[in-house]
Amino acid sequence: MRNSFPNLQKLWPYMKRYRKRTFTALFSMAVSSGATGAFLVYIKKLLEPIINTGDLSDLIRTAMQFIGIGVLMAVAGFFSTFLSNHVGQKMLTDLRQDLFDHLQRLSLSYFETRRTGELMSRMTNDLNNVQRVVLLVTLNVLASPLTLIIVLVQMFIWSWQLTLLACLGVPTIGLLIARAGRKAREYANRVQERMAELSDLLQERIVGIRIIQCFTREDFESERFLRTNRQSLKEIMRGVRIQAGLVSAVDLIAVASIVLVLCIGGAQSMKGQIETSTLLTFLAAINIAVAQAKKMSNVFVVLQQTEASVARLFQVLETEPDVRDLPGAVDCPEAEGRLDFEGVGFAYLADQPVLQNISFIIQPGETVALVGPSGSGKTTISNLIPRLYDPTSGRVCLDGRDLREIRLRSLRQHIGIVPQEAFLFAGTLRDNIAYGRLGAEEEEVIAAAEQANAHGFIANMPAGYDTDVGERGLTLSGGQRQRIAIARAILRDPKILILDEATSSLDAESESLVQEALEKLMEGRTTLVIAHRLSTIKNADRILVIDRGAIVEEGRHADLLRGDGLYHRLYETQTTGELTDNDAPAPQTFA
Ligand SMILES: Nc1ncnc2c1ncn2[C@@H]1O[C@H](COP(=O)(O)OP(=O)(O)OP(=O)(O)O)[C@@H](O)[C@H]1O
Ligand SMILES: [Mg+2]
Repeated sequence: MRNSFPNLQKLWPYMKRYRKRTFTALFSMAVSSGATGAFLVYIKKLLEPIINTGDLSDLIRTAMQFIGIGVLMAVAGFFSTFLSNHVGQKMLTDLRQDLFDHLQRLSLSYFETRRTGELMSRMTNDLNNVQRVVLLVTLNVLASPLTLIIVLVQMFIWSWQLTLLACLGVPTIGLLIARAGRKAREYANRVQERMAELSDLLQERIVGIRIIQCFTREDFESERFLRTNRQSLKEIMRGVRIQAGLVSAVDLIAVASIVLVLCIGGAQSMKGQIETSTLLTFLAAINIAVAQAKKMSNVFVVLQQTEASVARLFQVLETEPDVRDLPGAVDCPEAEGRLDFEGVGFAYLADQPVLQNISFIIQPGETVALVGPSGSGKTTISNLIPRLYDPTSGRVCLDGRDLREIRLRSLRQHIGIVPQEAFLFAGTLRDNIAYGRLGAEEEEVIAAAEQANAHGFIANMPAGYDTDVGERGLTLSGGQRQRIAIARAILRDPKILILDEATSSLDAESESLVQEALEKLMEGRTTLVIAHRLSTIKNADRILVIDRGAIVEEGRHADLLRGDGLYHRLYETQTTGELTDNDAPAPQTFA
């Protein structure tokens, strides 16, 4: 029993924080349970004048005392319910916060190998499950056994024979509960898995709604959702059947016990071996005991159901980020911005190298462009600089110091990224730009927007900087989103800049606006740009041509063009067609 809930035990530290309140709740529960015992004694006391003595004043006095006990029970009950809920809810709030905080620190690889909906489901469905158990357990796990023991002791004092009779069914109930508990755990686990699948399906379909609608795949998706939805119903109902079956079986055994006690106790009473008031009180006691036993069995089943949910939550909490500071890592408040890649190799999956022996240096303030075919490893190289991943071999250095020796937060403060797909959070345009430097003044936000060529279109919007961009910034065009992302990077004012140029071609005007904004941003910073635009490539101090994870050529545009290597070939395939159309030269893209 002790080891059958290895994960639920982990909730203990969360409860320990609220020791005083838990203690008060437990104390209230004890009072409430004790009052239940007194309640029984008083039922018997009340019955005495009614059945035996006929003393009215005794009846009234006892009734008044009875009311007193009732009030005590009510007050203790209020505190135990209120406080245990309070502790339970606080524990959950803490757990939820810990989960969120921890999740944010996990490495990118963690999120890549897991599905968003599945993680969301842990944060919602599994957490709700834990909430259920925390409340139920804090309220019942101690109160019910306590009440049960008090009642049983009382019963035993009145008649140990009848008490043993009443307890005849207990072993059977115990066996039933253990069996049902095992099954309940299994089904609950499957229900949670289905819930995760549903949540995943839902999340992806919301994100991909445009594709669903354009390809008119609504019926197809409905069908797919229905299958998982039905599966989950099936698993839920299996659990319900177990629980309902258990309750009925316990009820049946309880009725059998009562009948048994009634027959044998009744016979004893007829022979005058036991007082009628004792027998009647005994029956009331059995009722209370059965009610408590039922609660306990319910708690046990719910505990089983929750064990798997708690396990899933602690799996998240116990995952260590892959990318970690080395012991003794230092802060690096100032950086010159010199980047060295020294014989860097990298693999996302073991035995499948993506980068091999990459070595190059970017001097402070220099701009280096990466070009190469799709899938050659350009984004992967850029991801090593903010340590989204660590190299599998070799090392990357900032100002001569291995990145792993610099505290992650300190390193990332020097880096600004304008990603290929600009991501905006729900909120205003101002909030999205100010994300680059929290607490930036209004003028600084506007200055950044101006530099990013974004001020014009923002000022033209009715709400200006207060415009709500909606989730994922879907209410803006691609070029507008990019310029907001550039403004965000400008505001951050990083020493090192990483640009993943969008391949999607913008119209000529926004293309040149974005280009201009980027050039301003690159000034005086160490820049690694994954370049697709000919203008960026031409302006770069150096070009690295990447092919299948290795640097195959290096130099300036004109030098590389003179050779007949990969760069030359890429250039030819990209520019023929576009350059022959002399009337309207399209924006040139590369790689
Ligand atoms: N998270 C990942 N897990 C496993 N493999 C990955 C992952 N990301 C990229 N890869 C693989 O690594 C290789 C290099 O990918 P990378 O994204 O660096 O290419 P890229 O040069 O940026 O291409 P593109 O020009 O299309 O953006 C590809 O073969 C890709 O399939
Ligand atoms: Mg890429």
